[in-house]
Amino acid sequence: MSEYSRLSDDQSSGVIVAAQSGPLTGEVTVPGAKNSVLKLMAAALLADGVYELSHVPRIGDVDIMAELLTQLGLRIEKIAIPNPEQDGQKLRIVNSGNIATVAPFEIADRIRASVNVVGPLLGRLGEVDIALPGGDDFGGRPIDIHLRGLEAMGATFTFSDDGLIGRANGLHGADISLEFPSVGATENLLMAAVCATGTTTIANAAREPEIGDLCLMLRSMGAHIEGIGTQQLVIHGVAQTSLQSTTHTTVADRVQAATYMSAVAMCGGDVHVKGAIITHMEMLMSRFTDMGMTIAPTDDGIHVRSSGRLSAVDISTLPYPGIATDYKPLLVTMLGVSDGTAVVTENLYPGRFRYIEELRKFGADITIDGHHAVVRGVEHLTGAVVHAPDIRAGAALVVAGLAASGMTEIRDIHHIDRGYDDLVGRLAALGAAVSRVD
Ligand code: UD1
Repeated sequence: MSEYSRLSDDQSSGVIVAAQSGPLTGEVTVPGAKNSVLKLMAAALLADGVYELSHVPRIGDVDIMAELLTQLGLRIEKIAIPNPEQDGQKLRIVNSGNIATVAPFEIADRIRASVNVVGPLLGRLGEVDIALPGGDDFGGRPIDIHLRGLEAMGATFTFSDDGLIGRANGLHGADISLEFPSVGATENLLMAAVCATGTTTIANAAREPEIGDLCLMLRSMGAHIEGIGTQQLVIHGVAQTSLQSTTHTTVADRVQAATYMSAVAMCGGDVHVKGAIITHMEMLMSRFTDMGMTIAPTDDGIHVRSSGRLSAVDISTLPYPGIATDYKPLLVTMLGVSDGTAVVTENLYPGRFRYIEELRKFGADITIDGHHAVVRGVEHLTGAVVHAPDIRAGAALVVAGLAASGMTEIRDIHHIDRGYDDLVGRLAALGAAVSRVD
């Protein structure tokens, strides 16, 4: 066991170099989900005790969340396990009950998920003082839905220059109807409601699998939650002192799984994506099939095969179970070399098209019209020097590089390291010509 230590800064420096790669073959293991584990870690604020979290991805955002929670009073250690490269890290989180409510601004404003300490801190201690959340820049990322729900439960908020101060004299249950099924708001309200007085219902709740994962952990801590996986969550508040710590395994990351599948689509190949959960990715699998890929569930993952040129299909992003906005850079990249023209519509973050300029450097033919991208598939991409603008777009540029003639250099790879556990090593193990260079 060792004190939690960050990935060294060296790991995030340098560039990724990719070259055109032949068919990919073999097996890749899917790490735990970033969008789940950060909230699971925040949930440990709720009850005293010793937690064990497994299948924790080795990514920058976990480091930042660990730093934030340490500042709030939790102790986080890594438990030595035989094969963390495949299985992810195992973390021990100790909550000794001595929790601070002021989150250091310089840490909190680096990740979006920092906002997820608001629900547990208000629920448990009735106060929180935090920077407005940062994270990937997709344009405006308001938190009004979080705040309105918490206000319905009795919290009040004031804004400082760049932060938020929340107070509650004991939260109470409320009937909350979300105007949009926000992932972060659903998670915050869930964690706030767990030890509120009375019953909270969250209508039009987000249904992403990562929320189900959080519900399962909260339940094993003693929370009473009904409707898990549906759009109506009912939480019967319990006394905070009746909650206890737990052990939990992080759900597999469907976006990392999709990334390896899209690499197979771009390069051709035959790969077993071990740990991928097909029931969490049904809509995407159906689109992949429409594009000409062969997808088959296995006992412990998804088998994916692809050869020849993909067919263009139109795509719209939607809250789960729709096509996730996080898949979109991968899909646009695949459509960039597909046969035909496709319209991709972004319904969550209208500003989330910044990477398209980078894809054009490969020779992709993509135009933007409002929240639609028109992608006219070209036969070949040509290697380029590109910059990763955010986590998922960065990974998509790496995948594009594997299908482009000549060399591709991807810069600003610290974005990729925030959300991908050894993307380069995993792709290289499948036979891709990709490496990190200082
Ligand atoms: C999470 C994921 C992110 C993913 C997104 C949508 C994490 C750390 N990030 O982000 O990778 O792309 O879900 O699947 O889990 N909105 C408001 N007001 C609010 C909250 C959200 O208007 O109070 C809007 C947002 O601007 C956006 C949409 O709702 O247009 C979806 O946001 P939300 O579901 O909250 O995403 P996040 O939890 O931030």
